[in-house]
Amino acid sequence: MNKYEHVKRYIKDQLQSNAIKPGAKLMSIREISSQFACSKNTVIRAYDDLEKEHLIYSVPKSGYYAVQGAASDVQATAGLIDFSSAAPDPEVMPYEDFQHCLNRAIALYQDQLFSYTDPQGFLTLRQSLAKHLADSQIFARPEHICVVSGSQQALHLANVMPFPNGKSTVLVEQPAYSGMLRSLELLHIKAVGIARTKDGVDLEELERHFRNNNIKFFYTVSRYHNPTGWSYTQEQKKQIARLASKYDVYIVEDDYLGDLEIDRKADPIYSYDTTGHVIYTRSFSKVMLPGLRLALAVLPKRLIETFTLFKSSNDLSTAALSQAALEIYLNSGMFDRHVTHMRSRYRERMKVLQDASLRYLAPRIQVDAPQGGIFCSITLPDGIDAWEIAAALRQQEVLVTPSDRFYLPAFPSENALRVSVIRTDDQQIHNGIRRIAEAADRLAEVAASGQMRSAREWHSSRNAMM
Ligand SMILES: Cc1ncc(COP(=O)(O)O)c(C=O)c1O
Repeated sequence: MNKYEHVKRYIKDQLQSNAIKPGAKLMSIREISSQFACSKNTVIRAYDDLEKEHLIYSVPKSGYYAVQGAASDVQATAGLIDFSSAAPDPEVMPYEDFQHCLNRAIALYQDQLFSYTDPQGFLTLRQSLAKHLADSQIFARPEHICVVSGSQQALHLANVMPFPNGKSTVLVEQPAYSGMLRSLELLHIKAVGIARTKDGVDLEELERHFRNNNIKFFYTVSRYHNPTGWSYTQEQKKQIARLASKYDVYIVEDDYLGDLEIDRKADPIYSYDTTGHVIYTRSFSKVMLPGLRLALAVLPKRLIETFTLFKSSNDLSTAALSQAALEIYLNSGMFDRHVTHMRSRYRERMKVLQDASLRYLAPRIQVDAPQGGIFCSITLPDGIDAWEIAAALRQQEVLVTPSDRFYLPAFPSENALRVSVIRTDDQQIHNGIRRIAEAADRLAEVAASGQMRSAREWHSSRNAMM
């Protein structure tokens, strides 16, 4: 290592180990050059490099200061098998590519990125999104697309805003994504449930609800459903669109994993809508970086103006820097390459989950792993309570989510666990499923020998999970 590299390495280590704290003044060029017995030019060159790496910044006539050398919020999770998370694996996230896009966005758009922007989203981004959506048979004009700050925002806005059908009850699948249920609860909106099984929903029951129950919209995750992982058949999607139009009920189609679809022929409900009754949302959180808070909503003509009005009164506009970087990421082809990689990665993980389930779990425990996506449901037999096994697994450093949090309070919940493969590798999936099998066997033995845990003990473990 030459002198220049030596100086640079020394300062960098100090910054990354937090020995030099963010905001602290660095040693002067003169002090460093005398400590390392090198020329001032050598130190200036090292400091210049560190400045380019955004580790330090200079103040004219004052000196150099530390930015932030180490992340402040790194959580130790070694040894943990996390089947509960819905946030993407940091190992497969496109940080570096996206950093290029952020830098390019700042160079291209400059001060425009740090001001208020169109509440509907950058027009140029919406044009790129329109092209992107056409690959999934979603033909929407940029005027009908709204960039939102996460699809959670679009769902919340759909709950809040009035719809042209003048109706007020929301119909939700059971189970359903808990973020939607929470929004309905907080807003005191009347919500009714319809069972969603591996075979979809009962279309006759759906029609009865649409006809009789003042349904404003039906909230559905049409593919790779959260929490079960199941998808509707094309015929069911067609029928749902037909019924919506017949009874003037809207569909809020939450296609949060639309980019991860394996079957090129699996078109969304939106593609069967001929009367403008489908509100379509897609998130960029699961395939990219959830912290960017980026998603899109496509709205029928009658709804786009009201939706944009409610959105702008909610956040004025979605972060311009995130939007501009996404536009570059999409247009440069980086997005497609990344998504192809993610798709096959999650598909492989689901295959491993299927194999491990067949290998370790007793037949009385039902697992219907989908071919792709990130979630899968494990249905437990009587005698093995979902909360109890989740508490036992926690002791074994395996995190799973009991399914009752995905149900409306009045709807009978399945005794099941949601398993997510988004943050697990093959080895962890094998070990995790084996530990689930062992825990289930232990609990079944205890139940069989009549030594059930006291209700008090059960409640305390349940509270610890919440
Ligand atoms: C089904 C479903 N919809 C919406 C969301 C919210 O996504 P976003 O990060 O885009 O707000 C999630 C997050 O986990 C989800 O699982």
